[in-house]
This record gives sequence, structure tokens and C-alpha cells, in this order.
Amino acid sequence: MKYNILTMGCQLNENDSEKLCGMLEKMGYEKTENQKEADIVVFNTCCVRENAEDKLFGKLGELKKLKEEKGIIIAIGGCMMQEKHITDKIKESYPFVDILFGTHTLHKFPEDLQKALEEKKKIEDIIDIDGEIHEGLPIKRDSKIKASVTIMNGCNNFCSYCIVPYVRGRERSRKPKDIIQEIRELAKQGYQEITLLGQNVNSYLRVEREKGIEFEEYEGVNSFATLLKAINKIDGIQRIRFVSPHPKDFIDDVIEAIATCEKVCKLVHLPLQAGNTRVLKEMNRKYSKEQYLDLVEKMRNKIPNLTLSTDIIVGFPGETDEEFEDTLDVVKRVKFEQVYMFIYSRRVGTPGDKMENQIPEEEKHKRFDKLKALVESQIEENNQKYVGTLQRVLVEGESKNNKELLTGRTDSNKVVVFEGDKNLIGKMIDLKIVSEHMWYLKGEI
Ligand code: SAH
Ligand code: SF4
Ligand code: F3S
Repeated sequence: MKYNILTMGCQLNENDSEKLCGMLEKMGYEKTENQKEADIVVFNTCCVRENAEDKLFGKLGELKKLKEEKGIIIAIGGCMMQEKHITDKIKESYPFVDILFGTHTLHKFPEDLQKALEEKKKIEDIIDIDGEIHEGLPIKRDSKIKASVTIMNGCNNFCSYCIVPYVRGRERSRKPKDIIQEIRELAKQGYQEITLLGQNVNSYLRVEREKGIEFEEYEGVNSFATLLKAINKIDGIQRIRFVSPHPKDFIDDVIEAIATCEKVCKLVHLPLQAGNTRVLKEMNRKYSKEQYLDLVEKMRNKIPNLTLSTDIIVGFPGETDEEFEDTLDVVKRVKFEQVYMFIYSRRVGTPGDKMENQIPEEEKHKRFDKLKALVESQIEENNQKYVGTLQRVLVEGESKNNKELLTGRTDSNKVVVFEGDKNLIGKMIDLKIVSEHMWYLKGEI
């Protein structure tokens, strides 16, 4: 029996998919990339922006035929399933879907699937309360070199545009011992790079400490900073990354830990969202333009070789042209290594959706194009700075576009393509950068 899985969301969702794969393989299923060959098709959905919904409904249309011809099992899970208007629509317009499961019931997937198969009935397993953290789920990781480790779930920030707090519940952190032991095991298996995941990764254990919820310290870990320090000591692990942090949680001990832990990559993701203070306030981001720029300055002073990436939303309700200029201004000043740009998308149930002064689509697109042009010119300029330098690269595998070449990433997460022997895969090597090509660099041993 074969399964096919489609993941639509962020790295947290991808990590959940790795767990779904682990559970399915433990049940005896084998993975296939070919949907037509599958006995079960699983969708792990995202709902952070509208286009994800269009994609799901488009796919469901396609799958209907397969369902009719082969009687496959169709299961849909993930963040979108925590939205009632979506599950209602699926039940009404796509009644052939067999299993609906949410973000808090992922661990019950084998049980739900068994039930659907044996009892031949539709399963809906979605709860609205904050799920507990379930340890020890089987996992089938996509890479043998880099591993993602979810350290906390949920979000308490309620940025006014964002659906995540409603679909992922409140913040809760995994126990230090569970995380450290998982990473030790990964090191033993030969993993080189660890990415710590959470919707607010750098507020790890903050709620627990603030609310006096008891947790067991392990090897001195009682905060995000101490967690970085403990992982830094694990032999075999060469690189530590983390996403996605919130600027408000870059407190001094976190900055100090990034600066002093040699394995922690010096590329830090610092989501800006908007550059204008009034817009930031409406977004409920809890910092002003000046505070953001001050934080950048402080981090640059304390962390040698710091590079920054960011997320930006254009066209938040009420954003004027002039206010948008502030976003461009911050981008010009900070010179980010990478900018993830998004057009504001109304999400049902968020305060942003109820705001009256929504920006017309055309205007949002105009701003997006303006930002994109600025970002691309900066990336080109920044890439030039790499040419002629020596970069430490973790070799990840064969290049997707040309199997003769190898590909790896710098500390700043830039892709470097180069000629080399396959036995370099999984190793850290020094490469001289010889040219730049917008989305990748070319290197030589
Ligand atoms: N917890 C993370 C990531 C949240 S989702 C953080 O706070 O940074 C990833 C990104 O999607 C956000 O940073 C934001 O830039 C974007 N995003 C979230 N909601 C959005 C919406 N309604 N419209 C457009 N972009 C959105
Ligand atoms: Fe969404 Fe804001 Fe939470 Fe990030 S911090 S997940 S943008 S509410
Ligand atoms: Fe999307 Fe859920 Fe991640 S809404 S961005 S998959 S947490």
C-alpha cells in the first residue's frame, strides 16, 4: 500500500508531515511521489494566506476522479482544518473526503486512518482546545544531513493580520530533556545541522516561567538562550538555526548566546512586517520603526558577521503610500540578506479582516512590485560582496538542476553550487566564491 503526501505550509508543517510519514510507514505504507499510484493521499494544509485555499480546492477537484476510479482514501489535516468555514465547505462541496484532522490531533492519525478503513465511514477529528505535546511519534526525515526539531507550539501574540494563533493554539514548550535527547540522537545518526522550530521560537519556556508552570530543568536549560548553549555543546552537530523568532523576544541573553555559540549561524530572521510605526501598532507588533532599527544596531554591534533576513507584508488595511515608504526605508537601511515578501491577505476571524480601510488589490500589487524591485537590486549588490571570499559551506547533496554539481549552504543560508566529489556530501568545507547568479553563488574548492 502506498501513500502520497502534499505539504503546503511552513517548516512547522513540514516537520508535522515528517511525523505523518513516520506514522504511515510504521503502519506499513510506502511513500510515492506519484499521486496516481497512491492508495492514500494526505494533504497537510496551511491557511496563513488565501492562495493556499485555492490550491487545496483545486487539488480536491483533481482527486475526485481518482477517488471514483480507484476508491483511494483522502485525508486532509493541518492548520486550515482548524477553520470551521473551511471544514464546512469541504463537507458540503467535497463529500468524498474521508478524514479531516486538525493540528491538535496529528498524533491520532494512525487511529483515525484505521477507523476510516475498518468502519468505512467519514472521520472528523478536530479539537479546538490547545493540544498537549506528544513525544515519541515516529518520524521519517526528508534529509540525512539537516533536521528540524519543533521546540514549542502555538502563538500568544495575536498580530492583527494573522490566523496562526487561532489555528495553532496557545504557546507551549517541549521539555528541555526531550529536546536535548532528540538532538543527541540526531547527532549520533550523523545529522550536521539542526533547525529549531516554533511560531515564536525565541520565547521558548517564557510562558511557563511567567505563569509559574513547573518544568524540569535539564543541563541548565530554562530559556531559549540556555537551550542554544546546551545544543552548542552537543558533539557532532555543526550548525544550529532557528525560525521563526519575534523581535520582542531578542532579549540580551539570547543575543549573547547567538554571539558566543560558535555553532549558531549568524543569519538571524527578524520579521519586520512593516516599517511604519502607526501600521506596526495597528498590526499589534509591539515595536516601533525606531525600536526595530535600534535592535538591528544592537545585534550588529554584539554579533560579529551578523546577517539578517525578514518577512514583510504590503497593503495592510489603512497603510498609506507614505507609510509604505517607511517599509522601503527600513529595507534600504538594514540591507537584508533575504526578504520574504507577502501581499496582505484577509483572514476570517482576525481583527485585520474587520478593518474598514482595506487596500485595493491593484494598489497592493503595485507596492509589492516596488518592494520586490528594491529587494532584488539589494540582493544583487549583496551577492557581489561574496565574490572572491572564502565561505564555510555544509554540502547538502547533488544540485537539483545539474546532477554533476554539488550544492551546499553558507552560514548566511546562501546556496552555493560547485564541482566536487560526492563523498563531500554531509561535510563542512571551505569554498572560494567565483561568481553570483541572483539566487545562488558559484564556488570552487
Ligand atoms: N510566527 C512567524 C511566522 C508567521 S507566518 C512570525 O511571527 O514571524 C509567516 C509570515 O507570513 C509572517 O511573518 C507574515 O509576514 C506573513 N503573514 C502572516 N499572515 C499574513 C496575512 N494575513 N497576509 C499576508 N501575509 C501574512
Ligand atoms: Fe502570526 Fe504574529 Fe504569531 Fe507570528 S507572532 S505567528 S505573525 S500572530
Ligand atoms: Fe501555515 Fe500553519 Fe505554518 S497556517 S504558516 S502551516 S503554522
